Amino acid sequence: MNCHKHHLQLLIKSLFFIVFTRLTNSSNRDAAILIRVKNTQLQDPPRILDDWVGSSPNAPCGWTGVSCDSQNQNAVVAINLSGVNVSGDFPAGFCRISSLRNLDISVNNFGGAITSESISLCSHLASLNISTNNFVGALPEFTVPFLNLTTLDFSFNNFSGEIPASFVNSPNLQFLSLGSNLLNGSIPEFLSNLTELTQLILSVNLFRPSPLPTNIGRLTKLENLMSTYTNLIGEIPESIGDLVSLKNLDVSQNNLAGKIPDTIGKLKNIEQIELFANQFSGELPDTFSNLTSLLRFDASENNLTGKIPESLAGLSLESLHLNDNFLEGEIPEVLALNPNLTELRLFNNKISGVLPEFLGMNSDLEEIDVSNNNLEGPLPQNLCSRKKLQYLVIFGNRFSGKIPESYGDCISLTYLRVQENELSGIVPDGLWGFSGLEYIEFADNKLEGSISPSISSAKNLEQLLISGNRFSGELPEEICDITELRKIDSSLNQFSGELPFCITKLTKLQELHIQGNKFTGEIPKNVADWRELTQLDLSENRFSGEIPAELGDLPVLTFLNLSNNLLSGEIPGELTKLKLNEFNVSNNRLRGKVPLGFDTEFFLSSLAGNPGLCSPDLNPLPPCSRAKPVSLVLVLVLSVLAFILVVSLVWLLIKAKFVIFGRKSRKSWKIMAFQKVWFDEEQILASLKDENLIGSGGSGRVYRVEMRNGQTVAAKRLWEPKGLAEFEAGFSSEVETLGRIRHANIVRLLFSCTSERFKVLVYNYMENGSLGDVLYGDKGGFLLDWPKRFGIAMGAAQGLAYLHHDCVPAIVHRDVKCNNILLDEEFRPKVADFGLAKILKQDVKEGDHVMSRVAGSYGYIAPEYAYTMKVTEKSDVYSFGVVLLELITGKRPNDSSFGENKNIVKWVTEIALSSPEQGSGNATGSIDIDSLDQLLDPRMNKSTIRYHEVEKVLNVALSCTAELPVSRPSMRRVVELLKDHSTIRSK
Ligand SMILES: *[C@@H]1O[C@H](CO)[C@@H](O)[C@H](O)[C@H]1NC(C)=O
Ligand SMILES: *[C@@H]1O[C@H](CO)[C@@H](O)[C@H](O)[C@H]1NC(C)=O
Repeated sequence: MNCHKHHLQLLIKSLFFIVFTRLTNSSNRDAAILIRVKNTQLQDPPRILDDWVGSSPNAPCGWTGVSCDSQNQNAVVAINLSGVNVSGDFPAGFCRISSLRNLDISVNNFGGAITSESISLCSHLASLNISTNNFVGALPEFTVPFLNLTTLDFSFNNFSGEIPASFVNSPNLQFLSLGSNLLNGSIPEFLSNLTELTQLILSVNLFRPSPLPTNIGRLTKLENLMSTYTNLIGEIPESIGDLVSLKNLDVSQNNLAGKIPDTIGKLKNIEQIELFANQFSGELPDTFSNLTSLLRFDASENNLTGKIPESLAGLSLESLHLNDNFLEGEIPEVLALNPNLTELRLFNNKISGVLPEFLGMNSDLEEIDVSNNNLEGPLPQNLCSRKKLQYLVIFGNRFSGKIPESYGDCISLTYLRVQENELSGIVPDGLWGFSGLEYIEFADNKLEGSISPSISSAKNLEQLLISGNRFSGELPEEICDITELRKIDSSLNQFSGELPFCITKLTKLQELHIQGNKFTGEIPKNVADWRELTQLDLSENRFSGEIPAELGDLPVLTFLNLSNNLLSGEIPGELTKLKLNEFNVSNNRLRGKVPLGFDTEFFLSSLAGNPGLCSPDLNPLPPCSRAKPVSLVLVLVLSVLAFILVVSLVWLLIKAKFVIFGRKSRKSWKIMAFQKVWFDEEQILASLKDENLIGSGGSGRVYRVEMRNGQTVAAKRLWEPKGLAEFEAGFSSEVETLGRIRHANIVRLLFSCTSERFKVLVYNYMENGSLGDVLYGDKGGFLLDWPKRFGIAMGAAQGLAYLHHDCVPAIVHRDVKCNNILLDEEFRPKVADFGLAKILKQDVKEGDHVMSRVAGSYGYIAPEYAYTMKVTEKSDVYSFGVVLLELITGKRPNDSSFGENKNIVKWVTEIALSSPEQGSGNATGSIDIDSLDQLLDPRMNKSTIRYHEVEKVLNVALSCTAELPVSRPSMRRVVELLKDHSTIRSK
């Protein structure tokens, strides 16, 4: 017994000893592995792992980032070093800890490639997260089974190449994210073999155009499928309907086409469907009725036709976006019963009928945008009954009747655009004065009554656009309380009385258009605070008194129209200080001598209709008489004599000229003038000399020419054409089109002269040369602070948007680059040289050198040109994206510092996408300041940098330079994105 007892004690003792040594041994071994990895595979500048030392009682379990399993002999089961700022190669050595289950090294600076040998060490892990590092090269092959792996996160790195088929060696994978890498293989069918997946994230990669796996429906446990921005093509497979667990389907911003399959109606657990910005066509399926969990549906920016299905409208969606399609028919009434609806975007379709009467009554509607459809009838009474409505955008329809009285209580409103309808009656008083209101656009309706004094409460109003209605009464003084006002357009109404003089205290005012009313009294004089006023149109009113000389001191005024009033007195000489694109004082009662500077033919029609004006040398204005009464007769006689002399001389001169230059030189010139310019083609031709040469480019040589009237112009002599008759015809009609274009951000073609030997185009001269000159010239980018750069980005975008969207037919620039964006004396951008390439192309039947000219310029050419040889608007968008990147970085598109085979687009994309703050699957997420600093032009004055704007421009640039043309935004969209208030429509 004793003996037995002794043996038992011994046994227990030895067992205890064995267990104890095993324990200490395994802990010791794990600690040793950790320390070895730390010493050989990690750099730890922040010294976060300094506590990985020594022999504390339960080391390594208390060490930073190390977790042990107390149930299992304190074995190390997890290492979590997320976001501690360590770096090095992939620390495969950690996986030598055989008890390790979870390894998380995300959000650090690890880099290099990962070999399949090193990852094989980790085949026992359940979870591996290496997201948001700088890993490069191919994804590692899984050469051994990874049977326990359920979570694999490789997102936000720079992996490239294919997704390895050996990933099927992790059959139990539930979470797989490869998003935001540079993967450029195709999306493989075998992903559908990973049948345990609940999350599959592929978004934002450079994949080759490929379809979704046909058998995607096998992933019956899948809850989240994110594949936005991945070059998907083809149709959504029918089998999508088998994804019965799916909650989020996001295949937006791809090239998917065909009909949206009926089977989408089988996704009974779906909460969000994002199909926007694809090429879907045909009708939406009417199979949505079972999708009772669906909250957000977005199929905007496709080619959908037919009606909005009742089954879709009848769901309890929070947001429904179907804008930018070809939908027609009526909006189903049932939409109004939805208790959740907050956002409704149906703009840019062909939807007809009325807005459902009860819309807004049953839900907290925040945004409704049904602009540009064929809607009609009255506005629903209840649209703002919950007092949550912020964006009311219904312009470009045929809505009629009064604006409902109830809208006068819609205090939540910030953005109100109801222009271009048939609305009538009086605007509810309250509607003028909500404190959050930023934008009021009532233009082109039949509204009447006056502007309510309550407008003084609209402290944030920036634009008040009410032209083309029947408004009357005075402009209330209260308008002067709105210090944020930038633009007032109350033209073409029936306003009367005097302009409130306090209006000159609106220091942010940029444009004041009140033409076509019945205003009386004098023009305000104390205009010194209008530092930002660029446009002033007071024409067609009954203003009297003199033109205030103070207008001549406005620093940025370029448009001044005072015509058709009752103004008297002389034209103040001070006005000649302005740099005016438009000046018109015609049809007033002005008298006296026309100031020097305005006495040119250019201004003749601007001065007409003022019988009292005189000028010594501007015909047909009468000369200014300085006659003294005594010698009146003498003067008369002398003038007659002088007149005869002048006439004879002129006649002789004309004759002489005729003889000297001959008929031929006259006849062989074809001149087209597009502006009221005084010009002299002989002088221009005489000035095409080397000493006047200011540039030479793809389309020709440019000369600076000072005209005799003091105006400076730029004359471009195109490279010698081949003299084909069709070319001549094409040239003339093109040039005529170009000549008619008027836009503040497009350089003006003044006239062209054509002969057999020359083609010369004459433009306004731009003080600061091209953006390329300024950005890369001697004074370098120092001249351009951030606000200037942003202004250039915005202006150039507007110019291009005008060419693409407002010209009929649309004009594709074909050679957008810094050298073709000119800058005036205020560094305002003017797009130049557009369409020229096309003119030149007609000249060329073959010949490589000209083709390369036609295609655009090196570094700016969109990738698709390589295989399509076609230039479209989207090629311009790409080139414009490159210009934006140059504005941010101050680097040329092919700067040698990018290294081999890299251009500015790749370089910036890599830095921006590796940014740790990029949210998962979010192509336009925020970028951290460090990455931005890495990109920013170091020559830029730091104190001027507005990071939120830089980030905005960067995001726009990245989407403009998307690989696939279809993924790039339109120029109009680019403008919207660059503007602040446009955020309401951005994703
Ligand atoms: C998977 O994990 C279990 C513990 O949960 C472990 O026993 C097993 O060895 C692991 N399998 C592999 C292949 O590592
Ligand atoms: C995926 O599954 C299919 C059907 O079971 C099989 O034919 C195919 O070989 C699998 N793919 C891979 C890469 O294992």
